[in-house]
Amino acid sequence: MLEEKQIGNIKIIICENKQEVAKTGAEIFAKAIGNNPKIILGLATGGTPVGMYKELIKMNKEAVVDFSQVSSFNLDEYVGLDINHSQSYRYFMNDNLFNHVNIDKNNTYVPDGKPSNIQESCLSYEGKIKAAGGIGLQLLGIGSNGHIAFNEPGSSKETRTREVDLTETTIKDNARFFENEAEVPKKAVTMGIGTILEAKRIVLLATGENKVDALKRSIKGLQIAEVPASFLQAHSDCLFIIDKEASSGLL
Ligand code: GLP
Repeated sequence: MLEEKQIGNIKIIICENKQEVAKTGAEIFAKAIGNNPKIILGLATGGTPVGMYKELIKMNKEAVVDFSQVSSFNLDEYVGLDINHSQSYRYFMNDNLFNHVNIDKNNTYVPDGKPSNIQESCLSYEGKIKAAGGIGLQLLGIGSNGHIAFNEPGSSKETRTREVDLTETTIKDNARFFENEAEVPKKAVTMGIGTILEAKRIVLLATGENKVDALKRSIKGLQIAEVPASFLQAHSDCLFIIDKEASSGLL
């Protein structure tokens, strides 16, 4: 395992490149599953975790990690996208992980982006997490504006699963996954910061220079709603695994 540093309350591993970030993250997840085969994972989407999911698929095929008893809850979902839409987060999770490992899909949860009653659906998602016993290990990425899940700047530390408006920055950042910017949904359902902070352990992955500013403000700045990831400083077991590019000027 690579050297772990600490800034304030946040533990940090700096990797040579994004491949090493993916491997390091996958090793931590595999170990956690090994220690507790019935672990409840919190999972994330976006470009960053794809490499780690590939590593976990490889480890599953090599019988190094067994997902048969694992349950998972995803952080967020776009509002209005059908689960079969190629950019829905349910589709993403099936495509990038669940279809390729021995997880029971009935034990995988992603917020509903097209519920008949969104408030009820958000409450029920929170209820399911609680009923499962809470999240044991939560994976996170970070937006270039410091968002976690879809908790955009302005989200308080107490927020729970709810419907949110996406910011211009996020819509622009995520346009690369869609035909064009106009196709990106304007709203999402996301676990709140309060929900995320209840996970027993948190691992955040970040790569590339686009994340430098958000990381600096999250790790070294004040805990403020303007930088939602800064509230991770309040968690007692939070590890950031980042590459050299993303760590510029941090230490
Ligand atoms: C998305 C997701 C976040 C993710 C972030 C970063 O908007 N809702 O959960 O962490 O953007 O994405 P990427 O890894 O593609 O930079």
